[in-house]
Amino acid sequence: MRAVDIIIKKRDHQELSREEIESFIKGYVSGEIPDYQASAWAMAVMLNGMTARETTDLTLAMAHSGEVLDLSSVVPIAVDKHSTGGVGDKTTLVVEPVVAACGLPVGKMSGHGLGFSGGTLDKIESIPGYRVNLTTQEFLDQLRTIGLVLTGQTADLAPADGKLYALRDVTGTIQSSPLIASSVMSKKIAAGAQVIVLDVKIGLGSFMPTVEKAQELAELMVTIAGLAGRKAVALLSDMNQPLGCAVGNALELREAIDTLHNGGPADFREHCLTVAAQMLASTGFADDIEAGRSMAKKALSSGQAWAKFRTLVITQGGDVSYIDEPSRLPVARLIEVVPAPRSGYLSGIHARIVGETAVLLGAGRSRKSDPVDYSVGVVVHHKVGDRLEKGQPLFTVHANHIELLQEARQHLLDAHTWSDDPVSPLSQFYGVVE
Ligand code: URA
Repeated sequence: MRAVDIIIKKRDHQELSREEIESFIKGYVSGEIPDYQASAWAMAVMLNGMTARETTDLTLAMAHSGEVLDLSSVVPIAVDKHSTGGVGDKTTLVVEPVVAACGLPVGKMSGHGLGFSGGTLDKIESIPGYRVNLTTQEFLDQLRTIGLVLTGQTADLAPADGKLYALRDVTGTIQSSPLIASSVMSKKIAAGAQVIVLDVKIGLGSFMPTVEKAQELAELMVTIAGLAGRKAVALLSDMNQPLGCAVGNALELREAIDTLHNGGPADFREHCLTVAAQMLASTGFADDIEAGRSMAKKALSSGQAWAKFRTLVITQGGDVSYIDEPSRLPVARLIEVVPAPRSGYLSGIHARIVGETAVLLGAGRSRKSDPVDYSVGVVVHHKVGDRLEKGQPLFTVHANHIELLQEARQHLLDAHTWSDDPVSPLSQFYGVVE
């Protein structure tokens, strides 16, 4: 089977067979199919879509591009969560230690930043020494011993997603339901999760513009989970404004640390409690969502979630002094607080513009090989619906180059929109698909 014929078939709106999909994924992982052909194929999929059958076959081919873990002898029930990508979404850094502190082990494979959306791996890699390339054996041993793993795609686990994910980031092929669904679900299946809580983001700072599109993606992923013998529950959550306040790697890590110390922005804390409660309830570890929420709150207030996070960092080789004293984490040279240009109610904080601005400052990549700057980013100080007086701090830019700081300031001023009349706060959740 020639790769070019598979690309042409998808370009011409035809359905690919399972054999064609498997052969393409195998060829790409082995290096026989080069990046330029995989890019063309991904663009054809992005433009012409895939049927649910093709997406399921793609997911399974990607999951089986490496080992598929069976965790039944390691943990009583394997649970995981995954977000479809947003701005300021540092949820994993809080939720996984919270759930693990409640006694439910979590082993997770996360990703690097994708387009304007940040990646958990870039955030946690702000900690010097932290390893995100655990081997399968290390993954299993750590899950057994400390009940918590946070690593990346490896040569062993879902390597097809590792390669495709990085390629999509820089080829304009992120915003595609079949590519997102297969990327997310292949990692979850490969890492052995039996129960998966999906956080499907909706709105300006996500890859799904409407509740309807997000619902379709959620249903597709829940169906794929079922076909693979797993259970998935999807929360549909808002991503029109940044989640929490911080956007940028070390800045978000600091905010996650505050939250693990039982503080943090109210919306972010609420988001984490909801996701954690869903994980605890969906596995039967808590009787219901309310009981799960109480357990999660206790894990934060007792310090047990923080203790779990410290253990995670130490076990994966991170220098724990950086999280014990977050002021040691990378700091940008130029920090500017920008005041509100007028009085009024905030009617919007365009999450995608904020995310793109963080990437412009260096928090994300424009080419696969680009390094990320852990120190830069943005902190927004308000939420939609807040009333401000002219001159109050509106946002803070953390930059390492003056020209970029100036450009970022203007983008961020444009991202904030105003009303003279009161504005309702945005909903945080729009529903659950199971
Ligand atoms: N998260 C993933 O793992 N993959 C995507 O494509 C989007 C979000």
